[in-house]
Amino acid sequence: MTYLVTGGAGFIGSNYIHYMMKKYGDAIRIINVDKLTYAGNLENLKDIENNPGYLFVKADICDAEAIEKIFKEEDIDKVVHFAAESHVDRSIKDPLVFVKTNVVGTAVLLECAKSAWENPDGSFKEGKKFLHVSTDEVYGSLPDDDSAFFYETTPYDPHSPYSASKASSDMLVKAYMDTYKFPANITNCSNNYGPYQFPEKLIPLMINNALAGRDLPVYGDGKNVRDWLYVEDHAKGIDMVMENGKLFETYNIGGHNEMKNIDIVKLVIKTVKELLPDEDPRKKNVSEDLIKYVEDRKGHDRRYAIAPDKIKKEVGWQPDTMFAEGIRATVKWYLENDKWLKNVTSGDYMKYYDGMYGNR
Ligand code: NAD
Ligand code: TYD
Repeated sequence: MTYLVTGGAGFIGSNYIHYMMKKYGDAIRIINVDKLTYAGNLENLKDIENNPGYLFVKADICDAEAIEKIFKEEDIDKVVHFAAESHVDRSIKDPLVFVKTNVVGTAVLLECAKSAWENPDGSFKEGKKFLHVSTDEVYGSLPDDDSAFFYETTPYDPHSPYSASKASSDMLVKAYMDTYKFPANITNCSNNYGPYQFPEKLIPLMINNALAGRDLPVYGDGKNVRDWLYVEDHAKGIDMVMENGKLFETYNIGGHNEMKNIDIVKLVIKTVKELLPDEDPRKKNVSEDLIKYVEDRKGHDRRYAIAPDKIKKEVGWQPDTMFAEGIRATVKWYLENDKWLKNVTSGDYMKYYDGMYGNR
């Protein structure tokens, strides 16, 4: 069984590749196609780079020739499509790269997979499937009221350039399923956290800043709600939808773990303080005094909350990791991987950081 994984050098993609290699061993082959943007890091996959069942190809998913070549040279059975520009704040500053990668890139992949998998009569070869990894942000924003949730039937209402580009890519996948009966699934997942997440996103940014004794920038009133899922549970969900999901269906993935941003930030501070050894000089600086309320994000969605009933009922998925356990494991990972954190936060990232937070 050969998998084409796009964006496998990023946060969720690299966790997914680790999960799959551990679960299936030599029974599968994984071809990881990644452009290696600022968010792609081959260090994430160092431990498996020499595995005979793993191949890395550096390519842009917008490059039709490069993608076509992979489908010609390899008999791809499954595509798991993670590659994307993924950060809302960056999309507000520079929307066009989001349209290019997320919309055009997805269209190129769909077209290459369709050409490779289509029989002369327009049907598709047995056992092929394209799984499009998407986000709950396509559904827009929920009111503070705890009783509303995102279902697969919730109308799309994206607000940021990021979520609009992901919504567009979902619609393209849907168009291929409706028009050609192209074998695919879409998954819409809530916010992920865990090892290898680039420290521009809330949780690793707060860990990194707390360790450096820098301000912890909380947008607006800090009461926006996100629904957090441990990344390995997302990887398991994707695998289960690939195996057991009904073709042409969409599945929401989330673990009913809604939290206000400010509560996350306080928990991160507490956990970093607890896990740092007493003799570590950084420990004395870690406190809630570092919290700084800053100007709100433009168009900031208030609340996200997934109803995961369908994936539970039809696919049998449910999360394994409780938040208290997952956040400890995550902070521990960042403490033990200081060098990784230093490498990804040098150079260009600091330029972005100063531009982003310098005026807040
Ligand atoms: P990430 O930013 O950490 O990684 C993205 C990867 O895609 C990087 O390795 C990058 O180099 C690669 N990439 C970017 N542009 C490319 C291009 N043009 N061609 C080839 N590769 C390219 O993102 P992530 O957080 O791992 O998210 C992965 C996917 O999951 C995205 O599609 C995202 O929309 C979706 N998602 C993310 C979350 C979350 O909380 N992070 C939640 C739900 C869904
Ligand atoms: P983020 O991790 O960027 O994910 P998303 O915007 O895709 O949900 O942000 C999570 C929440 O944390 C969001 O409400 C914005 C907020 N946030 C801050 O308050 N401060 C920060 O420095 C960042 C990066 C995010």
